[in-house]
Amino acid sequence: MKIPIIMDCDPGWDDTIAIIMALSNNILDVKAITCVAGNVSVEKTTENAKKVLNFMKSNVILASGAKRPLVYSLRSLENIHGEDGLYGLLENAEYGVDKRKADELIKDLLLESKEKITIVVTGALTNIALLIKNYPECIDKIKKICMMGGGIATGNITKYAEFNIYTDPHAANIVFSSGIPIVMCGLEASYKSICKKEDVVEISKIENKKSKLVSKILEESGKVNRDYIKEIVKKGDSPLYDPVPVAYLIRPDIFKTKKYNIKIEIEGEKRGQTKVINNNNYNAEVVIDVNRKEIIDLLINCLKFKNKNDGE
Ligand code: RIB
Ligand code: CA
Repeated sequence: MKIPIIMDCDPGWDDTIAIIMALSNNILDVKAITCVAGNVSVEKTTENAKKVLNFMKSNVILASGAKRPLVYSLRSLENIHGEDGLYGLLENAEYGVDKRKADELIKDLLLESKEKITIVVTGALTNIALLIKNYPECIDKIKKICMMGGGIATGNITKYAEFNIYTDPHAANIVFSSGIPIVMCGLEASYKSICKKEDVVEISKIENKKSKLVSKILEESGKVNRDYIKEIVKKGDSPLYDPVPVAYLIRPDIFKTKKYNIKIEIEGEKRGQTKVINNNNYNAEVVIDVNRKEIIDLLINCLKFKNKNDGE
């Protein structure tokens, strides 16, 4: 039996790779993709999801969501993801966008599903917080939330906070207080999942469209200035942020997790910090270790996977 998932994302170079991986395996059944403002505006993240789903010849339901965080204004990252959020690598594409907003679509899919659904989140948690606030009746249909965000002892948008949590700490607080099982794939996981320059060369040699696109994405991402983590990431390398929660669902055996009680800092200098309080009455399973070679091999296997609609 496949694992049914819904992906909420802000494509974004790494969200795009995560979507391609989620659609390219025999383990996950992607029920819907929903978009949120984050890396770039929600108009652009939704447009990028259209491009990727069209590129993958997918027919997965797509909906757009929150234009801004619950309280704070949006601080987008065109400097990292490019003006369009995808380095201009894919042309705008025709692809149907559901008339429902993200939280309403997710609610409908959860309530009509016979089984619980796992929600993968690779952007700010705004849409999921809105789902919890607007439709509490569907919470017990969520199997777990497997998200990219946070960090135990480090940040990337500030020294305290990771971008997805920093963008909407009010939403993160609602989600981490909801009682829904959470797998938190934070920066520690991303920094143990480095796609090295030599891995990008190997991917570029795979003879199919997905691999050519992903190698170009990784080449562009490898040019981003990450001097703040230069002891971990060399020029041409890229931490795999958003592919991690997808990889976790496909191959949980290559990860190590620890249960923590995580508190979200809402404001001030530490806005967006995911602070470990203790490990009793935990609210999240946090990824603390990843087998780097295995996650790269998994990415490559997904890229070699023959998608049903792919003529290649
Ligand atoms: O901090 C990394 C996260 O922020 C990733 O999800 C990336 O896409 C950006 O949204
Ligand atoms: Ca993202």
